[in-house]
Amino acid sequence: MTASDAEIARAADVLRTGGLVAFPTETVYGLGADASSTDAVHRLFAVKGRPADHPVIVHVGEAAQLDDWAVDVDDRARTLTRACWPGPLTVVVRRSPHVPDAVTGGLDTVGVRVPDQPVALALLRAFGGGVAAPSANRFGHVSPTTAADVLDDLGDDVDVILDGGPSRVGVESTIVDCSRPEPAILRLGGVPRERVEELLDRPVPLLDRGEVRAPGTLESHYAPHARVEVADPDSLADLLAEARERGDRVGVIGHPGADEAVEVLGVPCDGNEYAHDLYRMLRDADARGLDRVIAVLPDPTGLGAAVADRLRRASGARE
Ligand code: TXA
Ligand code: MG
Repeated sequence: MTASDAEIARAADVLRTGGLVAFPTETVYGLGADASSTDAVHRLFAVKGRPADHPVIVHVGEAAQLDDWAVDVDDRARTLTRACWPGPLTVVVRRSPHVPDAVTGGLDTVGVRVPDQPVALALLRAFGGGVAAPSANRFGHVSPTTAADVLDDLGDDVDVILDGGPSRVGVESTIVDCSRPEPAILRLGGVPRERVEELLDRPVPLLDRGEVRAPGTLESHYAPHARVEVADPDSLADLLAEARERGDRVGVIGHPGADEAVEVLGVPCDGNEYAHDLYRMLRDADARGLDRVIAVLPDPTGLGAAVADRLRRASGARE
């Protein structure tokens, strides 16, 4: 059920008094705090269980507010934000001096985005300032795509949870670092790399994990309790045979399933549907008490690339 205007107004007041508000976005649910308040952001990190030196994205209701948080915003960042906002794109730009270190993790840059979700926009516009928000899960868990997911993960530690229905995109925003001499993608996400390259009219490299201090780049992210393995249609049969031998309970994603011993978690028809369903399928695997999830990857184009990235990270978590 979508949050009412009164609930949104109350949530904006909670932000003003330093509280935490979980809110829907088109990518995943965010856990928000007043980005201008160091205390509020510290509380956010404590609830999330996240190391304090990790930067967090500032969410704003209007593209023009980028200039409240950033300096030296160049044409490339303007091109991207003009074309993609509101939408699943975060730009990393040089920070304005007043941005709290708690938000930037001490970096001289800041990540900013305008989400494309009516409840999120209403909240951000009612609040008026910037809202620092990581995904509303505990550090290292699967990102939430419904209000119920947030409640499961964070429960009473959040002051308000605004419901906006299931997230439309299902994977996090694409992060483009426009603060360096040549723009680079720090995280694949809701805006396909192809689209970023088309807008900037040049190839845009995807930076290796390790080159940036970003929790989305740690191997252990996006993982359910079940062990995740990535398969192609050829290796699937071997993995299933091995799992059967060990007596593991197995769920399969992206394949109709080889036999009745296997639980099918979903067979998305393309990268968009795969992205939309991904975190729900991983949570579902845990709810069913499965030992293992074997995922056949989608085509690595469009949102399929972000899906493959998240599944690889989830599979790396137990290695
Ligand atoms: O779709 C999304 O981006 C969601 C929704 C809630 O907006 N948010 C999200 O936040 O995924 P989080 O904290 O889970 O991931 C934010 C990523 C992290 O990898 C963080 O390190 C990176 O953004 N980031 C933020 N500011 C940065 C900066 N100045 N430089 C480099 N990376 C930055
Ligand atoms: Mg996250």
